[in-house]
Amino acid sequence: MKFFLDTANLAQIKEANDFGVLDGVTTNPSLMAKEGIKGQEAVFSHYKTICEIVKNGDISAEVVSTDFDGIVAEGKKLAAIHPNIVVKVPMIKDGVKAMKWFSDNGIRTNCTLVFSAGQAILAAKAGAKYVSPFIGRIDDSGWDGTQLIEQISRIYTIQGFETEILAASIRNPLHIIKCAEMGADVCTCPLDSILGLLKHPLTDIGLAKFLEDAKKFS
Ligand code: E4P
Repeated sequence: MKFFLDTANLAQIKEANDFGVLDGVTTNPSLMAKEGIKGQEAVFSHYKTICEIVKNGDISAEVVSTDFDGIVAEGKKLAAIHPNIVVKVPMIKDGVKAMKWFSDNGIRTNCTLVFSAGQAILAAKAGAKYVSPFIGRIDDSGWDGTQLIEQISRIYTIQGFETEILAASIRNPLHIIKCAEMGADVCTCPLDSILGLLKHPLTDIGLAKFLEDAKKFS
């Protein structure tokens, strides 16, 4: 399973990249706004900087148009920023139509705001490179988001769909573990959730004892 970082924060992207386990980055308009980036030129330059930090990873850049012509025009501009850009398109009727256009024209897409297996089937039919089920937001509304990952994984395997399942809206380390277990191809996570995988009290206790014993022979 690949690890993407779910942020537009450059310091966190550099930290995860240096950690050595980073395979890509996802952003969305809320994450870009959080970094205080304003204006198309600044937004495009920010995407380019992210691509230059994560040299070999896919970087999702989201369109904000909601009609077919607007999504295609915006997606073409985003894709032209860098070869690693993946155009993130919402799961709406014009979005599906645009994803089919992008896939026919060699532009990779990430279908976002996916909350059901039916939507995941449509994304795969439209030729999306990635489908992004939002598991945290599903959990927030009293359902089990990881069950959706398992269902989509089963459907894609049975049907031979090549779209990769990109589990999004991750809230904690357990989400990452469950997504790996349920067959996600990618998990896009906040840095804290990735670093949370490191933690185990027995590791800390064991290391302290080893270091104490090492003093006896050093
Ligand atoms: C990433 O692709 C999604 O936009 C993101 O994971 C949504 O996360 P949130 O539910 O924490 O906003």
